[in-house]
Amino acid sequence: MLANKRILLGVTGGIAAYKCAELVRRLIKRGAQVQVVMTDNATRFIPAMTLAAVSGNAVRTSLWDEQAELNMGHIELARWADLILIAPASADTIARLAGGHCSDLLTTLCLATDRPIAIAPAMNRLMWSNPATQDNVSKLTARGAQFIGPAVGELAERETGPGRMVEPAELEEFCAAQFGEGVLAGQHVLITAGPTREPIDPVRFITNRSSGKMGFAMAAACADAGAKVTLVAGPVVQPTPPGVTRIDVETAEQMHKATLDAAPGCDVFIATAAVADYKPGFAADSKIKKDAASQQLDLIRNPDILADLAAKHPDIFSIGFAAETDDLQTYARGKMQRKKLDMIAGNWVGAGKGFDTDDNALWVAWPGGEQELGPAPKGVLARDLVALIAKRQAAATEQASKDNSA
Ligand code: CTP
Repeated sequence: MLANKRILLGVTGGIAAYKCAELVRRLIKRGAQVQVVMTDNATRFIPAMTLAAVSGNAVRTSLWDEQAELNMGHIELARWADLILIAPASADTIARLAGGHCSDLLTTLCLATDRPIAIAPAMNRLMWSNPATQDNVSKLTARGAQFIGPAVGELAERETGPGRMVEPAELEEFCAAQFGEGVLAGQHVLITAGPTREPIDPVRFITNRSSGKMGFAMAAACADAGAKVTLVAGPVVQPTPPGVTRIDVETAEQMHKATLDAAPGCDVFIATAAVADYKPGFAADSKIKKDAASQQLDLIRNPDILADLAAKHPDIFSIGFAAETDDLQTYARGKMQRKKLDMIAGNWVGAGKGFDTDDNALWVAWPGGEQELGPAPKGVLARDLVALIAKRQAAATEQASKDNSA
């Protein structure tokens, strides 16, 4: 899938730069042409010579290299690329890109290009979560840059958290998906995942057992199938799949707003989140003391994200999930009709089934058809469900265009 694709790899200062030799080797093996541009700081972590040897091309490190500018000037280089991948991307480079700076060759190229830019951050976990970095990430995402990771795990400074560069194998798959004939190539998929938390007071909340595993597996499978993916996630401990843009939320209200804000321009919506149907009518500002012998908790309804999105955007192919302990098919079909969905995926829950497990089985229905998937690990099931969604969406689009021309 990468044959003759031209990838400009921007390497910036970070210990993960040593992994770029493997990344380049993998891309070349898949048939890509790779041209490497390094920042000054990157050359402190891996010699330019190494990346020149594996890429088979001279590595550019400076805007002021006369010979290189005579051969392939920086503007030509910006136009040469089919994809610009920056890996590892330091906090400083991300900040300079967000600011529109052109203080070195790499940032200049990025400003002078109309090609897609993908960014694989690598930095300390606090640098990543710093609001300054997060603002820069939001700015770049809004301008169309795709973020891959960072992965969660042990960092160079022996701390654990988000900040690791996504592994070369995953970056390779990400690049392949950008050019692939994946079943969702060119589609923008929006997904909700995980539970929500509904505060009772500053230290207590109502939640449920959802681990987010199915939603994150769906996000990974959609990205692998070539889709652009936006994932709105409740509080879960799950690494962001490569190539997926993640928006973290806590309450159902926040998930509702984030999802509806992200919906315009999307083609498919997959609601895997286990949204709390109710929230406390009143959340205390300070911790509730156990003075009273008994307490009452008044609950009020949360907005229905899936129903609201399907009503507002009937053109988006919407898929709901129905987790049931009994009468699965009747309840699931009822939900599909009530919420005006294009498809429903029903699964059994309770006693070791569904929530927080690695394996799952689904009964999938759409107007006029049904199919069983699994039991299988959630990753495999997600891939099969994505294939089915793509097939049904294509059929629905074809039907809609027939209806319009009739
Ligand atoms: N959903 C949602 N927003 C809500 C509640 C549910 O988007 N506030 C979505 C879930 O992500 C899932 C589907 O709707 O895709 C599940 O619907 P559910 O809440 O189970 O349906 P109900 O009709 O409320 O049925 P029940 O009585 O079982 O709660």
